[in-house]
Amino acid sequence: MSLHGRNVILGVSGSIAAYKVVQVARDLTQAGARVDVLMTEGATRFVTPLTFQTLTRRPVITDLWQDWSEDAQGHISLGEEAEVMLIAPASAQTIARLALGLSDDMVSLTALATYAPLVIAPAMNYHMWEHPATREHIRTLEERGATILSPGAGRLASGAVGEGRLAEAAAILGAVRWRLGRNRQLAGKRIVVTAGGTREPIDPVRYLSNGSSGRMGYALAQAAIDDGADVTLISANVELPAPWGTAVVPVITAAQMLEATSRACEQADALVMAAAVSDYTPASPSGQKIKKSGGGLSLDLVETADVLAGIDRPGLLKVGFAAETDNLRENARSKLTRKGLDLIVANDAVATIGAPDAALTLIRADGGIEELGQLPKNQAAERVVAALAALMQR
Ligand code: CTP
Repeated sequence: MSLHGRNVILGVSGSIAAYKVVQVARDLTQAGARVDVLMTEGATRFVTPLTFQTLTRRPVITDLWQDWSEDAQGHISLGEEAEVMLIAPASAQTIARLALGLSDDMVSLTALATYAPLVIAPAMNYHMWEHPATREHIRTLEERGATILSPGAGRLASGAVGEGRLAEAAAILGAVRWRLGRNRQLAGKRIVVTAGGTREPIDPVRYLSNGSSGRMGYALAQAAIDDGADVTLISANVELPAPWGTAVVPVITAAQMLEATSRACEQADALVMAAAVSDYTPASPSGQKIKKSGGGLSLDLVETADVLAGIDRPGLLKVGFAAETDNLRENARSKLTRKGLDLIVANDAVATIGAPDAALTLIRADGGIEELGQLPKNQAAERVVAALAALMQR
């Protein structure tokens, strides 16, 4: 429920892609947002207002004059309460209306009457998208601060192939979350999050690694975005989609993790080291695939550099994780001191690595302890980011 109590206006305009936005309205509502849907006349030809009304459990406004009799403020009051206005799909016609400041339907009129930032997800025929008129309108809207979710290339509803497909529902939701976070408590803070598990090559086709899925790191990145931070996500071998708005730096090995994290931390306010970094790497990986020799195989391993312990910049707040199988608090405390951390997140390695849930214990450098209990990783991540934000405010 990360969007609990947030006010979103969703303006739907006339494009076949309107059916995909039904999912967005549902996802926003399920995340806890209050979603007020406005539809152009064209949009109602593709999807009925009842569909949106049922999913958002709010009245849908389609007619400029519809609520005039009940509430003299009408559209103005909706616009005043909104924290973000999403326009999806945005047809060429609606984009032109927005750029020119026209107000002859509910969507364009509300966009004109609100101070809420606009997130615009265009969808149209590719000739229309490429037309100089549309390009100019898009530039104008960007200059005014709108976030544009560029349409993807692919097969369009007409059967033609080109640019014009509505962005994916997950990306639209991500952009709205990113935009809603911009004025939150971590606004202007730069946070580096590491995620996943490194791979240390044995030969060109084999490696040493661990079972980290990257879920915790990605959930931390999303929670930091939701709270307004600018997030760099150093991602080691993760299959998940990255949270919208993060700058992703893909790495494979512990050495690459060290390089990328050190560089990102030069400009950062905090480092959250959720990645499972390999402690050992083969001393001399083979250039060719190692063949079976009939006997056993011994690997000569050397220790990797400790990323977290090695990065030490004044003013950089450091959060580490301690994955333990025994003596959880004691081992975590000793890592906190050894690596010069402000906060350590301790967890049971066997129960947590690769799992959807986590039972975390937060231990601060000042000795404060918080037991979070068993939570889904996204909720656990929100609690870790809240603890981090509290430390940053000190
Ligand atoms: N870490 C790191 N670089 C490494 C190893 C670990 O930055 N080469 C970080 C991890 O990302 C984590 C913290 O250090 O935030 C603790 O990792 P963990 O694997 O629990 O501890 P280790 O330092 O490897 O110590 P041990 O093997 O004794 O448990």
